[in-house]
Amino acid sequence: MTARSAKPVKKSRRKLVVALVVLLSLVFVVLPAATAATAMQFENHDDFCASCHSQPEDTYFQREAPASTDLASFHSTKDARCIDCHSGPGLVPGRISALTMGAKDLLAWVSGTARQPAVHTRPIDDTNCLKCHQQVTQQRDFNNHFHVFLARWQSVDKNAATCASCHQSHHTDGEAQLAFLNREHTVSICQSCHQALGKGE
Ligand code: HEC
Ligand code: HEC
Ligand code: HEC
Ligand code: HEC
Ligand code: HEC
Repeated sequence: MTARSAKPVKKSRRKLVVALVVLLSLVFVVLPAATAATAMQFENHDDFCASCHSQPEDTYFQREAPASTDLASFHSTKDARCIDCHSGPGLVPGRISALTMGAKDLLAWVSGTARQPAVHTRPIDDTNCLKCHQQVTQQRDFNNHFHVFLARWQSVDKNAATCASCHQSHHTDGEAQLAFLNREHTVSICQSCHQALGKGE
């Protein structure tokens, strides 16, 4: 008798637990996921980036059309967006870590502690570029040796260049016919690697 009446109690308790799990996962999993998905949707639009950033960074967006005067605006003519360079590969860690940084920046912006111009604290990782440009590290000829040897330099020198050291993206003092590189600036980096690795005999 007691065993029979205990059953429905157990069942309804289990139902309650299931309902609680569903509710909790709604709050802690689905809602943040939905919020994150919406935020990422925003981040897909370059005008969203420009909405908070003021001088000089809003010019990064203004330069996008019609002519390319820097590497970043050139990318916009190739369907590459702000967020493409400003995030790593994949949803995890790429977009999620960009989102985390975005949330921190949003907080600074809302609380009025944001610095303008924005301080660039997190270097643009090579993996951000290599998502789309893997081939530059593979083509083994002399005219590409500075890309091929880059990983070797980075493995022996913590101050070695990264993609963005040569390929400054928002500077307008580069030469368009030289992939927007600034010649003097680039040559100084060529020399640093030659010093670090040696140029052969
Ligand atoms: C809600 C307003 C807002 C939006 C939208 C926004 N930003 Fe920012 N961003 C900021 C603030 C605020 C900072 C930090 C300023 C500071 O240092 O206090 C910042 C900093 C940055 C930095 C420097 C980060 C570092 O630490 O190196 C980059 C790069 C950046 N934003 C790119 C972007 C891109 C790309 C987008 C669009 C996907 C974007 N931002 C959208 C407000 C915003
Ligand atoms: C030492 C400076 C330097 C570094 C570091 C560097 N590059 Fe380059 N990159 C150049 C030069 C020089 C060119 C050739 C420009 C020209 O002749 O038009 C070039 C050209 C390119 C091109 C266009 C031509 C091609 O080969 O497709 C891409 C894409 C590129 N680099 C991507 C990268 C990426 C990605 C990284 C990081 C892994 C990187 N670069 C690191 C100097 C550098
Ligand atoms: C080709 C890749 C690329 C694209 C596209 C790009 N950026 Fe950047 N961004 C960089 C790099 C690399 C840096 C680091 C500084 C530099 O090299 O100019 C940077 C730096 C920044 C900074 C930090 C402040 C500073 O000047 O250093 C902000 C803010 C920023 N970008 C916003 C944007 C916005 C907004 C867009 C779209 C309108 C955009 N970026 C598109 C590569 C890119
Ligand atoms: C979403 C993909 C994507 C990302 C991310 C990206 N690029 Fe590109 N990049 C392109 C495309 C597409 C082109 C045009 C290639 C073409 O037309 O053959 C290009 C062209 C270039 C060129 C040649 C410019 C010229 O004048 O011919 C350089 C240099 C370059 N990218 C460097 C970078 C660097 C450095 C980064 C990271 C900061 C980066 N790219 C990130 C897609 C990307
Ligand atoms: C990541 C390291 C690295 C970078 C960056 C680099 N080089 Fe080199 N460079 C080398 C190495 C290593 C050699 C020797 C190659 C060999 O012996 O096969 C070399 C050799 C050379 C040589 C022939 C040797 C000589 O006596 O001068 C020239 C020319 C040269 N590099 C030009 C450049 C230019 C121009 C740039 C910048 C656009 C550049 N390099 C960037 C590593 C680099």
